[in-house]
Amino acid sequence: MSLDSLRDFIAALEEAGELIRVREPVSVDREITEIADRCMKSAGGGPALIFEHPVLPTGAPSRMPVAINLFGSLKRMAMALETSSLDATAARITELLRAEVPEGVAGKLSMLPKLVELAKFPPARATGPIPCQAVVLQGSEIELREIPHLICWPEDGGPYITLPMVITRDPATGTRNVGLYRIQVQGPRELAMHWQRHKVGAAHWRAMAERGERMPVAIALGGDPASMYAASAPLPPAVDEFLFAGFLRRAPVRLAKALTSDLDVPAEAEIVIEGYIDPAEELVMEGPFGDHTGFYSLADKYPRVHVEAVTTRREPIYPATIVGRPPMEDYYLGHATERIFLPLLKLTVPEIVDYHMPPCGVFHNLVFVSIDKQYPGQAWKVMNGLWGQGLMSLAKVLVVVDKGVNVQQEHEAWWVALNNIDPERDVRFTMGPMDVLDHSSRGFTYGSKMGIDATRKWPEEGFAREWPGMILMDKATQAKVTEKWAKLGIKLP
Ligand SMILES: Cc1cc2nc3c(=O)[nH]c(=O)nc-3n(C[C@H](O)[C@H](O)[C@H](O)COP(=O)(O)O)c2cc1C
Repeated sequence: MSLDSLRDFIAALEEAGELIRVREPVSVDREITEIADRCMKSAGGGPALIFEHPVLPTGAPSRMPVAINLFGSLKRMAMALETSSLDATAARITELLRAEVPEGVAGKLSMLPKLVELAKFPPARATGPIPCQAVVLQGSEIELREIPHLICWPEDGGPYITLPMVITRDPATGTRNVGLYRIQVQGPRELAMHWQRHKVGAAHWRAMAERGERMPVAIALGGDPASMYAASAPLPPAVDEFLFAGFLRRAPVRLAKALTSDLDVPAEAEIVIEGYIDPAEELVMEGPFGDHTGFYSLADKYPRVHVEAVTTRREPIYPATIVGRPPMEDYYLGHATERIFLPLLKLTVPEIVDYHMPPCGVFHNLVFVSIDKQYPGQAWKVMNGLWGQGLMSLAKVLVVVDKGVNVQQEHEAWWVALNNIDPERDVRFTMGPMDVLDHSSRGFTYGSKMGIDATRKWPEEGFAREWPGMILMDKATQAKVTEKWAKLGIKLP
Protein backbone atom coordinates (compact mmCIF):
# COMPACT_ATOMS: atom_id res chain seq x y z
CA MET A 1 0.00 0.00 0.00
CA SER A 2 1.38 3.38 -0.86
CA LEU A 3 1.42 5.91 1.98
CA ASP A 4 -0.15 8.98 0.39
CA SER A 5 -0.94 10.92 3.52
CA LEU A 6 -0.15 11.31 7.19
CA ARG A 7 -3.29 9.33 8.03
CA ASP A 8 -2.15 6.46 5.78
CA PHE A 9 1.16 6.47 7.66
CA ILE A 10 -0.60 6.55 11.03
CA ALA A 11 -2.84 3.64 9.98
CA ALA A 12 0.23 1.64 8.91
CA LEU A 13 1.99 2.39 12.21
CA GLU A 14 -1.08 1.38 14.15
CA GLU A 15 -1.35 -1.89 12.26
CA ALA A 16 2.31 -2.60 12.97
CA GLY A 17 1.79 -2.01 16.70
CA GLU A 18 4.06 1.04 16.57
CA LEU A 19 1.61 3.68 17.79
CA ILE A 20 -0.14 4.46 21.06
CA ARG A 21 -3.27 6.61 21.26
CA VAL A 22 -3.35 8.75 24.39
CA ARG A 23 -6.96 9.48 25.38
CA GLU A 24 -6.16 11.38 28.56
CA PRO A 25 -6.30 15.19 28.07
CA VAL A 26 -2.72 16.52 27.92
CA SER A 27 -1.60 20.13 27.62
CA VAL A 28 0.37 21.29 24.56
CA ASP A 29 2.18 23.55 27.02
CA ARG A 30 5.21 21.36 27.94
CA GLU A 31 3.21 18.26 28.98
CA ILE A 32 3.34 16.71 25.50
CA THR A 33 7.10 17.37 25.44
CA GLU A 34 7.65 15.66 28.77
CA ILE A 35 5.66 12.60 27.68
CA ALA A 36 7.20 12.42 24.20
CA ASP A 37 10.70 12.98 25.61
CA ARG A 38 10.36 10.03 27.97
CA CYS A 39 9.27 7.87 25.02
CA MET A 40 12.03 9.12 22.71
CA LYS A 41 14.68 8.42 25.35
CA SER A 42 13.48 4.84 25.85
CA ALA A 43 15.10 1.86 24.11
CA GLY A 44 14.84 1.99 20.33
CA GLY A 45 13.12 5.38 20.30
CA GLY A 46 9.81 4.47 22.01
CA PRO A 47 6.37 4.38 20.39
CA ALA A 48 4.74 6.89 18.07
CA LEU A 49 2.00 8.80 19.89
CA ILE A 50 -1.31 10.40 19.07
CA PHE A 51 -2.73 12.72 21.68
CA GLU A 52 -6.44 12.59 21.02
CA HIS A 53 -7.39 15.34 23.47
CA PRO A 54 -4.69 17.99 23.53
CA VAL A 55 -5.45 20.99 25.72
CA LEU A 56 -4.52 24.45 24.42
CA PRO A 57 -2.54 26.90 26.61
CA THR A 58 -5.83 28.73 27.26
CA GLY A 59 -7.23 25.55 28.83
CA ALA A 60 -9.65 25.01 25.94
CA PRO A 61 -9.71 21.60 24.25
CA SER A 62 -8.00 21.42 20.86
CA ARG A 63 -10.15 20.52 17.88
CA MET A 64 -7.25 18.58 16.37
CA PRO A 65 -5.29 15.60 17.73
CA VAL A 66 -1.49 15.87 17.86
CA ALA A 67 0.76 13.16 16.37
CA ILE A 68 4.39 12.93 17.50
CA ASN A 69 7.41 10.60 17.29
CA LEU A 70 6.05 9.11 14.04
CA PHE A 71 9.59 8.92 12.56
CA GLY A 72 11.30 8.10 15.86
CA SER A 73 12.76 4.62 15.31
CA LEU A 74 14.74 2.84 12.61
CA LYS A 75 11.71 0.72 11.78
CA ARG A 76 9.30 3.65 11.50
CA MET A 77 11.79 5.69 9.48
CA ALA A 78 12.04 2.83 6.98
CA MET A 79 8.24 2.50 6.98
CA ALA A 80 7.92 6.22 6.26
CA LEU A 81 10.12 5.87 3.20
CA GLU A 82 8.35 2.66 2.18
CA THR A 83 11.58 0.71 2.15
CA SER A 84 12.79 -2.47 3.83
CA SER A 85 15.80 -0.55 5.21
CA LEU A 86 17.51 2.80 4.78
CA ASP A 87 20.50 0.99 3.24
CA ALA A 88 18.15 -0.49 0.62
CA THR A 89 17.17 3.05 -0.39
CA ALA A 90 20.86 4.00 -0.55
CA ALA A 91 21.41 0.95 -2.77
CA ARG A 92 18.71 2.21 -5.18
CA ILE A 93 20.63 5.48 -5.46
CA THR A 94 23.91 3.63 -6.00
CA GLU A 95 22.25 1.69 -8.85
CA LEU A 96 21.05 4.86 -10.52
CA LEU A 97 24.51 6.40 -10.29
CA ARG A 98 26.16 3.29 -11.65
CA ALA A 99 23.88 3.38 -14.66
CA GLU A 100 24.28 6.96 -15.74
CA VAL A 101 27.21 8.82 -14.23
CA PRO A 102 29.41 10.62 -16.77
CA GLU A 103 33.16 11.02 -16.29
CA GLY A 104 34.79 13.83 -14.33
CA VAL A 105 33.94 15.54 -11.06
CA ALA A 106 32.01 18.38 -12.72
CA GLY A 107 29.99 15.89 -14.73
CA LYS A 108 29.29 13.87 -11.63
CA LEU A 109 28.04 16.89 -9.71
CA SER A 110 25.86 17.93 -12.60
CA MET A 111 24.25 14.52 -12.33
CA LEU A 112 22.55 15.27 -9.05
CA PRO A 113 19.43 16.85 -10.53
CA LYS A 114 19.48 14.16 -13.23
CA LEU A 115 19.56 11.52 -10.57
CA VAL A 116 16.19 12.55 -9.35
CA GLU A 117 14.83 13.06 -12.85
CA LEU A 118 15.60 9.42 -13.33
CA ALA A 119 13.13 8.67 -10.63
CA LYS A 120 10.26 8.84 -13.09
CA PHE A 121 7.81 9.98 -10.44
CA PRO A 122 7.62 13.76 -10.82
CA PRO A 123 4.95 15.54 -8.77
CA ALA A 124 1.49 15.27 -10.32
CA ARG A 125 -1.28 17.86 -10.50
CA ALA A 126 -4.14 16.78 -8.21
CA THR A 127 -7.57 16.59 -9.80
CA GLY A 128 -10.99 16.53 -8.15
CA PRO A 129 -11.58 17.80 -4.63
CA ILE A 130 -8.33 18.77 -2.90
CA PRO A 131 -8.24 17.14 0.57
CA CYS A 132 -6.12 19.83 2.21
CA GLN A 133 -8.50 22.58 1.04
CA ALA A 134 -11.74 21.05 2.33
CA VAL A 135 -12.01 23.79 4.97
CA VAL A 136 -10.82 27.32 4.19
CA LEU A 137 -10.24 30.15 6.64
CA GLN A 138 -9.13 33.56 5.39
CA GLY A 139 -8.27 36.93 6.87
CA SER A 140 -9.83 37.63 10.26
CA GLU A 141 -11.37 34.13 10.42
CA ILE A 142 -7.86 32.86 11.21
CA GLU A 143 -6.71 32.38 14.80
CA LEU A 144 -3.45 30.42 14.74
CA ARG A 145 -3.52 30.04 18.50
CA GLU A 146 -6.51 27.70 18.22
CA ILE A 147 -4.22 25.17 16.54
CA PRO A 148 -2.39 22.86 19.01
CA HIS A 149 1.13 24.21 18.43
CA LEU A 150 3.49 22.97 21.12
CA ILE A 151 5.17 25.07 23.75
CA CYS A 152 8.09 22.69 24.03
CA TRP A 153 10.45 23.79 26.83
CA PRO A 154 10.22 26.13 29.83
CA GLU A 155 12.29 28.98 28.33
CA ASP A 156 10.88 28.80 24.80
CA GLY A 157 9.77 32.10 23.34
CA GLY A 158 6.29 30.82 22.58
CA PRO A 159 4.37 28.10 20.75
CA TYR A 160 6.11 26.53 17.76
CA ILE A 161 5.28 24.70 14.56
CA THR A 162 7.94 21.99 14.71
CA LEU A 163 7.34 19.63 11.78
CA PRO A 164 6.39 21.75 8.75
CA MET A 165 7.19 21.61 5.07
CA VAL A 166 8.04 25.21 4.20
CA ILE A 167 7.49 25.80 0.49
CA THR A 168 9.17 28.71 -1.31
CA ARG A 169 10.43 29.47 -4.79
CA ASP A 170 13.66 30.85 -6.20
CA PRO A 171 12.57 34.08 -7.93
CA ALA A 172 15.32 33.77 -10.56
CA THR A 173 14.94 30.13 -11.62
CA GLY A 174 11.43 29.30 -10.39
CA THR A 175 12.85 26.21 -8.61
CA ARG A 176 10.81 25.14 -5.63
CA ASN A 177 12.27 24.43 -2.21
CA VAL A 178 10.70 22.50 0.62
CA GLY A 179 12.49 22.88 3.96
CA LEU A 180 11.83 21.79 7.52
CA TYR A 181 12.33 24.91 9.63
CA ARG A 182 10.74 25.60 13.00
CA ILE A 183 8.27 28.49 13.04
CA GLN A 184 7.25 30.53 16.07
CA VAL A 185 3.61 31.50 16.43
CA GLN A 186 3.60 35.17 17.43
CA GLY A 187 0.00 36.26 16.98
CA PRO A 188 -3.36 35.29 15.48
CA ARG A 189 -1.94 35.66 11.96
CA GLU A 190 1.79 36.22 12.57
CA LEU A 191 4.66 33.77 12.46
CA ALA A 192 8.46 34.07 12.69
CA MET A 193 10.34 31.89 10.20
CA HIS A 194 13.53 30.33 11.55
CA TRP A 195 15.31 29.42 8.34
CA GLN A 196 19.02 29.56 9.06
CA ARG A 197 21.30 31.52 6.76
CA HIS A 198 22.84 28.41 5.15
CA LYS A 199 19.46 27.01 4.11
CA VAL A 200 17.73 27.25 0.76
CA GLY A 201 14.58 28.99 2.08
CA ALA A 202 16.79 31.76 3.49
CA ALA A 203 18.57 32.11 0.13
CA HIS A 204 15.18 32.51 -1.60
CA TRP A 205 14.22 35.15 0.93
CA ARG A 206 17.47 37.09 0.38
CA ALA A 207 16.84 36.97 -3.37
CA MET A 208 13.27 38.24 -2.93
CA ALA A 209 14.43 40.96 -0.52
CA GLU A 210 17.01 42.12 -3.06
CA ARG A 211 14.24 42.49 -5.61
CA GLY A 212 12.06 44.21 -3.03
CA GLU A 213 9.24 41.80 -3.79
CA ARG A 214 6.79 40.22 -1.40
CA MET A 215 7.63 36.58 -0.88
CA PRO A 216 4.84 34.03 -0.84
CA VAL A 217 5.34 31.15 1.63
CA ALA A 218 3.24 28.02 2.11
CA ILE A 219 3.60 25.91 5.23
CA ALA A 220 2.24 22.39 4.89
CA LEU A 221 1.70 20.17 7.92
CA GLY A 222 1.34 16.47 7.22
CA GLY A 223 1.27 14.81 3.83
CA ASP A 224 2.93 11.68 2.57
CA PRO A 225 5.69 10.76 5.05
CA ALA A 226 8.40 10.68 2.35
CA SER A 227 7.73 14.36 1.59
CA MET A 228 7.73 15.17 5.29
CA TYR A 229 11.19 13.57 5.54
CA ALA A 230 12.43 15.12 2.27
CA ALA A 231 11.88 18.59 3.74
CA SER A 232 14.70 17.78 6.19
CA ALA A 233 17.09 16.40 3.57
CA PRO A 234 20.03 18.60 2.49
CA LEU A 235 19.34 18.31 -1.22
CA PRO A 236 21.18 20.62 -3.61
CA PRO A 237 19.06 23.74 -4.33
CA ALA A 238 18.34 22.54 -7.88
CA VAL A 239 16.61 19.38 -6.67
CA ASP A 240 12.91 19.62 -5.82
CA GLU A 241 12.11 17.80 -2.58
CA PHE A 242 8.73 16.61 -3.93
CA LEU A 243 10.53 15.02 -6.86
CA PHE A 244 12.91 13.32 -4.42
CA ALA A 245 9.96 12.17 -2.31
CA GLY A 246 8.40 10.70 -5.48
CA PHE A 247 11.61 8.73 -6.05
CA LEU A 248 11.67 7.52 -2.44
CA ARG A 249 8.07 6.34 -2.41
CA ARG A 250 7.96 5.26 -6.04
CA ALA A 251 4.79 7.28 -6.60
CA PRO A 252 4.23 10.91 -7.47
CA VAL A 253 3.40 13.50 -4.82
CA ARG A 254 0.05 15.10 -5.74
CA LEU A 255 0.18 18.89 -5.69
CA ALA A 256 -2.50 21.58 -5.80
CA LYS A 257 -2.30 25.33 -6.28
CA ALA A 258 -2.35 27.35 -3.08
CA LEU A 259 -5.30 29.71 -2.67
CA THR A 260 -3.43 32.97 -2.20
CA SER A 261 -0.27 32.50 -4.30
CA ASP A 262 0.90 30.44 -7.22
CA LEU A 263 2.94 28.11 -5.02
CA ASP A 264 1.98 24.44 -5.13
CA VAL A 265 1.16 22.58 -1.92
CA PRO A 266 0.80 18.85 -1.24
CA ALA A 267 -2.86 18.04 -1.85
CA GLU A 268 -2.77 15.37 0.87
CA ALA A 269 -1.52 17.72 3.60
CA GLU A 270 -3.55 17.95 6.80
CA ILE A 271 -3.14 21.70 7.21
CA VAL A 272 -1.69 24.40 4.95
CA ILE A 273 -0.84 27.86 6.24
CA GLU A 274 -0.43 30.38 3.43
CA GLY A 275 1.18 33.75 3.83
CA TYR A 276 3.84 36.17 2.72
CA ILE A 277 6.96 37.95 3.93
CA ASP A 278 7.31 41.65 3.23
CA PRO A 279 11.01 42.46 2.73
CA ALA A 280 10.36 46.11 3.60
CA GLU A 281 9.31 45.08 7.08
CA GLU A 282 11.66 44.94 10.11
CA LEU A 283 12.78 41.50 11.21
CA VAL A 284 11.24 40.20 14.42
CA MET A 285 12.81 38.50 17.44
CA GLU A 286 12.44 34.73 17.23
CA GLY A 287 13.26 32.35 20.10
CA PRO A 288 14.68 31.34 22.46
CA PHE A 289 14.00 27.72 21.57
CA GLY A 290 15.11 24.49 23.26
CA ASP A 291 17.07 23.12 20.33
CA HIS A 292 18.40 19.84 19.06
CA THR A 293 21.84 20.56 20.49
CA GLY A 294 20.30 20.06 23.92
CA PHE A 295 20.77 23.76 24.65
CA TYR A 296 18.54 26.75 24.00
CA SER A 297 19.22 28.63 20.81
CA LEU A 298 19.18 32.31 21.68
CA ALA A 299 16.59 34.75 20.38
CA ASP A 300 17.59 36.38 17.10
CA LYS A 301 16.06 38.30 14.22
CA TYR A 302 14.09 36.45 11.57
CA PRO A 303 11.44 37.42 9.03
CA ARG A 304 7.78 37.68 9.91
CA VAL A 305 5.21 35.70 7.93
CA HIS A 306 1.77 37.31 7.56
CA VAL A 307 -0.82 34.58 7.30
CA GLU A 308 -3.57 35.06 4.73
CA ALA A 309 -5.24 31.66 4.61
CA VAL A 310 -5.38 28.42 6.56
CA THR A 311 -6.78 25.45 4.70
CA THR A 312 -7.34 22.03 6.25
CA ARG A 313 -8.83 18.62 5.77
CA ARG A 314 -12.18 18.03 7.41
CA GLU A 315 -10.71 16.43 10.51
CA PRO A 316 -7.06 17.36 10.42
CA ILE A 317 -4.33 15.67 12.45
CA TYR A 318 -1.59 18.01 13.66
CA PRO A 319 1.93 16.56 13.23
CA ALA A 320 4.68 17.71 15.60
CA THR A 321 8.08 16.78 16.91
CA ILE A 322 10.25 17.99 19.73
CA VAL A 323 13.98 18.54 19.77
CA GLY A 324 16.24 18.71 22.80
CA ARG A 325 18.96 16.76 24.53
CA PRO A 326 19.73 13.77 22.27
CA PRO A 327 18.59 11.19 21.39
CA MET A 328 15.32 12.50 20.00
CA GLU A 329 13.08 11.80 17.02
CA ASP A 330 15.22 14.00 14.78
CA TYR A 331 18.12 11.55 15.15
CA TYR A 332 16.21 9.11 12.94
CA LEU A 333 15.35 11.76 10.32
CA GLY A 334 19.03 12.74 10.22
CA HIS A 335 20.13 9.12 10.20
CA ALA A 336 17.98 8.50 7.11
CA THR A 337 19.83 11.35 5.42
CA GLU A 338 23.17 9.92 6.54
CA ARG A 339 22.39 6.55 4.96
CA ILE A 340 20.69 7.81 1.81
CA PHE A 341 23.38 10.39 1.05
CA LEU A 342 26.34 7.99 1.41
CA PRO A 343 26.35 7.10 -2.32
CA LEU A 344 26.17 10.79 -3.21
CA LEU A 345 29.14 11.63 -0.97
CA LYS A 346 31.08 8.76 -2.56
CA LEU A 347 30.58 10.37 -5.96
CA THR A 348 33.07 13.09 -5.16
CA VAL A 349 35.00 11.42 -2.30
CA PRO A 350 35.10 7.84 -3.55
CA GLU A 351 37.49 6.50 -0.90
CA ILE A 352 34.78 6.91 1.75
CA VAL A 353 33.67 3.47 2.92
CA ASP A 354 31.18 4.64 5.53
CA TYR A 355 30.41 7.58 7.79
CA HIS A 356 28.32 8.20 10.88
CA MET A 357 27.00 11.13 12.84
CA PRO A 358 26.37 9.78 16.36
CA PRO A 359 23.51 11.22 18.45
CA CYS A 360 25.85 12.94 20.93
CA GLY A 361 27.34 14.95 18.07
CA VAL A 362 23.93 16.43 17.11
CA PHE A 363 24.87 16.06 13.39
CA HIS A 364 27.18 19.00 12.89
CA ASN A 365 29.49 18.50 15.88
CA LEU A 366 30.99 15.10 15.07
CA VAL A 367 31.36 12.95 11.97
CA PHE A 368 33.24 9.64 11.88
CA VAL A 369 34.46 8.62 8.44
CA SER A 370 36.09 5.35 7.39
CA ILE A 371 38.19 5.36 4.23
CA ASP A 372 40.04 2.97 1.97
CA LYS A 373 43.45 4.64 2.36
CA GLN A 374 45.65 4.13 -0.69
CA TYR A 375 48.24 6.91 -0.31
CA PRO A 376 49.74 9.18 2.34
CA GLY A 377 47.78 12.27 3.28
CA GLN A 378 44.51 10.81 2.07
CA ALA A 379 42.66 11.40 5.35
CA TRP A 380 43.34 15.15 4.95
CA LYS A 381 42.15 15.03 1.37
CA VAL A 382 38.89 13.42 2.55
CA MET A 383 38.39 16.01 5.30
CA ASN A 384 38.96 18.88 2.89
CA GLY A 385 36.52 17.27 0.45
CA LEU A 386 33.82 16.90 3.10
CA TRP A 387 34.28 20.45 4.39
CA GLY A 388 33.66 21.56 0.82
CA GLN A 389 30.27 19.89 0.42
CA GLY A 390 26.87 21.38 1.17
CA LEU A 391 25.84 21.25 4.81
CA MET A 392 28.78 18.91 5.56
CA SER A 393 30.79 22.16 5.44
CA LEU A 394 29.31 22.91 8.88
CA ALA A 395 30.85 19.80 10.51
CA LYS A 396 32.88 20.83 13.55
CA VAL A 397 34.95 17.69 14.20
CA LEU A 398 35.84 15.10 11.56
CA VAL A 399 37.50 11.86 12.63
CA VAL A 400 38.91 9.69 9.83
CA VAL A 401 39.73 6.02 10.42
CA ASP A 402 40.69 3.15 8.13
CA LYS A 403 38.15 0.83 6.55
CA GLY A 404 37.37 -2.13 8.77
CA VAL A 405 36.53 0.13 11.69
CA ASN A 406 32.78 0.09 12.23
CA VAL A 407 32.03 3.80 12.44
CA GLN A 408 28.37 3.07 13.13
CA GLN A 409 29.55 2.02 16.62
CA GLU A 410 30.83 5.24 18.11
CA HIS A 411 32.66 3.44 20.94
CA GLU A 412 34.57 1.33 18.43
CA ALA A 413 35.40 4.42 16.36
CA TRP A 414 36.70 6.36 19.39
CA TRP A 415 38.58 3.31 20.70
CA VAL A 416 40.52 2.90 17.46
CA ALA A 417 40.92 6.64 16.90
CA LEU A 418 42.28 7.33 20.38
CA ASN A 419 44.76 4.46 20.03
CA ASN A 420 45.92 5.63 16.63
CA ILE A 421 46.60 9.29 17.15
CA ASP A 422 49.68 11.20 18.13
CA PRO A 423 47.67 14.34 18.86
CA GLU A 424 50.28 16.89 17.89
CA ARG A 425 50.88 15.13 14.57
CA ASP A 426 47.35 14.01 13.75
CA VAL A 427 45.10 16.89 14.74
CA ARG A 428 44.70 19.96 12.54
CA PHE A 429 42.53 23.05 12.85
CA THR A 430 40.98 24.97 10.03
CA MET A 431 38.36 27.70 9.71
CA GLY A 432 34.97 27.73 8.09
CA PRO A 433 31.26 28.36 8.36
CA MET A 434 29.64 27.01 11.53
CA ASP A 435 26.12 25.86 12.18
CA VAL A 436 23.77 28.64 13.33
CA LEU A 437 23.12 26.53 16.44
CA ASP A 438 26.79 26.38 17.48
CA HIS A 439 26.91 28.52 20.61
CA SER A 440 30.65 28.18 21.17
CA SER A 441 32.22 29.56 18.00
CA ARG A 442 34.05 32.90 18.13
CA GLY A 443 31.64 34.49 15.71
CA PHE A 444 28.06 33.80 14.74
CA THR A 445 28.28 30.98 12.14
CA TYR A 446 32.05 31.38 11.84
CA GLY A 447 34.71 29.44 13.66
CA SER A 448 37.29 26.70 13.75
CA LYS A 449 37.05 23.04 12.87
CA MET A 450 39.11 20.10 13.98
CA GLY A 451 40.24 17.25 11.78
CA ILE A 452 41.63 14.09 13.35
CA ASP A 453 43.56 11.71 11.13
CA ALA A 454 43.20 8.43 13.00
CA THR A 455 44.26 6.23 10.10
CA ARG A 456 47.29 4.00 10.34
CA LYS A 457 50.34 6.13 9.51
CA TRP A 458 52.59 5.44 6.58
CA PRO A 459 56.39 5.94 6.33
CA GLU A 460 55.81 8.87 3.95
CA GLU A 461 53.79 10.45 6.75
CA GLY A 462 56.88 10.34 8.93
CA PHE A 463 56.07 7.15 10.82
CA ALA A 464 59.23 5.07 11.16
CA ARG A 465 58.11 2.64 13.88
CA GLU A 466 56.32 -0.68 13.51
CA TRP A 467 52.49 -0.46 13.59
CA PRO A 468 50.89 -3.25 15.64
CA GLY A 469 47.99 -5.41 14.48
CA MET A 470 44.60 -5.34 16.17
CA ILE A 471 43.92 -8.27 18.50
CA LEU A 472 41.59 -10.85 16.95
CA MET A 473 41.13 -14.50 18.01
CA ASP A 474 41.86 -17.05 15.28
CA LYS A 475 38.84 -18.71 13.67
CA ALA A 476 39.83 -22.27 14.63
CA THR A 477 39.93 -21.48 18.36
CA GLN A 478 36.65 -19.61 18.11
CA ALA A 479 35.00 -22.60 16.44
CA LYS A 480 36.36 -25.02 19.06
CA VAL A 481 35.07 -22.88 21.93
CA THR A 482 31.69 -22.41 20.28
CA GLU A 483 31.38 -26.19 20.09
CA LYS A 484 32.17 -26.55 23.81
CA TRP A 485 30.17 -23.54 24.97
CA ALA A 486 27.04 -25.36 26.12
CA LYS A 487 29.13 -27.61 28.39
CA LEU A 488 30.93 -24.75 30.12
CA GLY A 489 28.03 -23.74 32.34
CA ILE A 490 28.53 -20.05 31.59
CA LYS A 491 25.40 -18.02 30.96
CA LEU A 492 26.06 -14.55 29.57
CA PRO A 493 23.37 -11.86 29.53
C1 LIG B 1 13.15 18.43 13.57
C2 LIG B 1 14.01 19.33 12.73
C3 LIG B 1 13.98 20.70 12.94
C4 LIG B 1 14.74 21.56 12.16
N1 LIG B 1 14.68 22.91 12.38
C5 LIG B 1 15.36 23.74 11.57
C6 LIG B 1 15.22 25.16 11.73
O1 LIG B 1 14.51 25.65 12.58
N2 LIG B 1 15.92 25.95 10.87
C7 LIG B 1 16.73 25.46 9.89
O2 LIG B 1 17.31 26.23 9.12
N3 LIG B 1 16.89 24.11 9.74
C8 LIG B 1 16.21 23.25 10.55
N4 LIG B 1 16.35 21.90 10.39
C9 LIG B 1 17.31 21.38 9.40
C10 LIG B 1 16.76 21.50 8.00
O3 LIG B 1 15.51 20.89 7.90
C11 LIG B 1 17.72 20.85 7.00
O4 LIG B 1 18.96 21.52 7.08
C12 LIG B 1 17.22 20.86 5.58
O5 LIG B 1 18.23 20.36 4.74
C13 LIG B 1 16.84 22.25 5.16
O6 LIG B 1 16.33 22.22 3.85
P1 LIG B 1 17.00 23.08 2.71
O7 LIG B 1 18.35 22.43 2.47
O8 LIG B 1 16.07 22.88 1.57
O9 LIG B 1 17.09 24.47 3.18
C14 LIG B 1 15.59 21.03 11.16
C15 LIG B 1 15.62 19.65 10.94
C16 LIG B 1 14.85 18.80 11.71
C17 LIG B 1 14.90 17.32 11.45
